[in-house]
Amino acid sequence: MDVYEAVTSRRAVRGFTDRPVPKEVLERVLRAAAWAPSASNVQPWCDYVLTGAPLAELKKLAGARIAVGDPWDEPEYEQYPPALKAPYSDRRSAFGEQRYGALGIPREDLEARHRAAAANWDCFGAPAALFCYIDRDMGLPQWSDVGMHLQTIMLLLRDEGLHSCPQMAWAKYHETVAQVVSPPDDLILFCGMSIGYEDLTEGHARTGRAPLEETVTFIDG
Ligand SMILES: Cc1cc2nc3c(=O)[nH]c(=O)nc-3n(C[C@H](O)[C@H](O)[C@H](O)COP(=O)(O)O)c2cc1C
Repeated sequence: MDVYEAVTSRRAVRGFTDRPVPKEVLERVLRAAAWAPSASNVQPWCDYVLTGAPLAELKKLAGARIAVGDPWDEPEYEQYPPALKAPYSDRRSAFGEQRYGALGIPREDLEARHRAAAANWDCFGAPAALFCYIDRDMGLPQWSDVGMHLQTIMLLLRDEGLHSCPQMAWAKYHETVAQVVSPPDDLILFCGMSIGYEDLTEGHARTGRAPLEETVTFIDG
């Protein structure tokens, strides 16, 4: 697959079939994604990949917490600045409107938004999921390295006919994830990633992007 096609066909897919993802495919993708760049080549990512019974167990444990309205775990990192300023706050609101609008959920119906968001903890039906951890000692540049690694994985998945959804939502239930993957204490869960074959019967709205003039400045010679 052409790189441009991989980039533009990748999107956060939120509906997967239960068709299993072969382990050799996941291994191939992760072996290639290890070539993602990182400052001084420290490769600060620690990935756990769950399929089958362990993933089913995690979904069950998370689902049980949601069912009783269990509050989220103590956050290990701040997912957004406490006061997200414009234009970022506008883009975030536009995303919420689009995501929940596509499901017919009005802005004020927080209850319905929460119900839809709960699908995160079922990995949107995906049969495979990756949980990406980073050492607590790492700084901002290493978190950025992890982002590059994750995007590399998501692009390679496209080449395998697979889709994905990166999910910070899993960090909200990091203790439950830890129950299943047993990570060392010095790791923080950055995010999960649902992986699988897209359920084409599920509708979706394509997100937009800010015009280039908003995010790029060319300084020509
Ligand atoms: C680090 C990260 C965390 C995300 N967390 C979630 C999440 O918890 N749940 C979700 O449904 N989407 C999540 N997303 C997907 C974004 O909402 C999505 O990438 C964004 O709206 C742009 O849409 P697109 O990826 O379909 O182009 C996350 C994306 C990233 C990069």
